[in-house]
Amino acid sequence: GVLGGAGLAAAGCGPAESAGQLLVSGAPLPEPFTVPLPIPEVARPSGPGRYEVTQRVAAAEILPGSRTEVWGYGGTFPGPTFELRRGTPVTIAVRNELPVPTSTHLHGGVTPPGSDGYPTDLVVPAGHSTRHGHPGEVHHQVVKDYRYPVEQRAATLWYHDHRMDFTAPQVWRGLAGMALVRDEEEDALPLPRGERELPLMICDRSFEEDGSFRYPQAYSAHGGAHGGMHGGMHGGDWLGLDGDYMEGVEGDVILVNGAPWPVAEVAAARYRLRLLNASNARRYRLQLTPGGRFTQIGSDSGLLAAPVAHDTIPISPGERYDVVVDFSAYPVGSAVTLVNTLAEGMQRNVMRFVVTRAARDDSAVPATLSRPPRRPRPVATRTFDFRRTGESWTINAKPYRPGVPLARPRLGTAEVWRLTSDFHHPVHLHLAHFQILARNGRAPAATDGGWKDTVDVRPYEVVDVLARFDGHRGRYMLHCHNLEHEDMAMMADFEVI
Ligand code: C2O
Ligand code: CU
Repeated sequence: GVLGGAGLAAAGCGPAESAGQLLVSGAPLPEPFTVPLPIPEVARPSGPGRYEVTQRVAAAEILPGSRTEVWGYGGTFPGPTFELRRGTPVTIAVRNELPVPTSTHLHGGVTPPGSDGYPTDLVVPAGHSTRHGHPGEVHHQVVKDYRYPVEQRAATLWYHDHRMDFTAPQVWRGLAGMALVRDEEEDALPLPRGERELPLMICDRSFEEDGSFRYPQAYSAHGGAHGGMHGGMHGGDWLGLDGDYMEGVEGDVILVNGAPWPVAEVAAARYRLRLLNASNARRYRLQLTPGGRFTQIGSDSGLLAAPVAHDTIPISPGERYDVVVDFSAYPVGSAVTLVNTLAEGMQRNVMRFVVTRAARDDSAVPATLSRPPRRPRPVATRTFDFRRTGESWTINAKPYRPGVPLARPRLGTAEVWRLTSDFHHPVHLHLAHFQILARNGRAPAATDGGWKDTVDVRPYEVVDVLARFDGHRGRYMLHCHNLEHEDMAMMADFEVI
């Protein structure tokens, strides 16, 4: 078909259900729900308002009994969780000891442009000069101070690599982690906290026979500035994906916090789950079996005004849902499985909770959660069309060109951005938070509420969002968060003036 349907048919999913091409592992895979759920370490500051994190190559035991080389912030996958407080600015010094350049984006952050992870604003490997990168502004630095003012509301954010053309393979290797912003409004709520607040980074991967990550990449044999450091695959020049992976890459192993189909023991009490879809291309429709509800308390950009109950939660790459699940609704001894109803077979499983004990629970989900900023009145309307053009993915028929903004909104104003598409494109705006006004002219879904920064625009859909351009002037991006689409040029600059 037009979108390379042969492969999709082989994977047993039509394009309406799937967003990518399944890549089957060579390694033996564990039984689901046998590996304990890990919780990423919380990053510790090196001084007041300052963190230092080194991106490096490290070994991880992801599949029991085998070794996977990861590229991690702090050498871990996921990277450490940053606990941030509204009103307390931080500087995170990122040092690059990987064999490739990087750029780090705090996804959902209201960040000045120089720290926003612009795709050519590179941090190059320590001890190397680079000839990677693109014409235009290429900064050569081995350590970069990313400055985050953290003036925004409490929210579930995450961070990941954003290098031009290479984001998908570099995130696949492990360059992602979570960041939680807290504030006084949230502190005052009786929500579950401590051990009953779980960050859950969900992503999929495939594995080679030897346990290393499998990714359908083609690098030139002798190529980049760093070729040979860790073998051709890591060091050579990226040649791109072949056409079979135009839709994006899906792994056959579902990881939560870097563990395959993990299991977590929980008390019969309320838990706050910070759900993040950090997959390159896979979409999920999350559901609890045998039955159960998610009480949504927050969206991408912070707490909702009031909780909303859902039976299922659709979550596309880049999106976050902040939910409470009450495990006291299940008898002690129950297994409660988080599944993805969009997938079949093993990929249907995400993780399992086992209710192991009765417990006292002082938490509650109040009927009023927060006073989110109101919808401002828009001053302009613009259309952005996300579509395949020849062999690349484009916005308004243009492949990404750094430094060429497609829009110049004014600081302190709001605009309606109409997003249209030919496929599933999870559209993400840097800097600007938005509300979904309409899908195909009709009211958005119950799961579309609140302020967001990423929205799944479905095939042939027209999604109207109201975006606020607050905080900083300068150059930002909008792009598809299917990371293969992003690397295949589905990105554009906008400039806040
Ligand atoms: Cu999460 Cu521009 O990305
Ligand atoms: Cu896309």
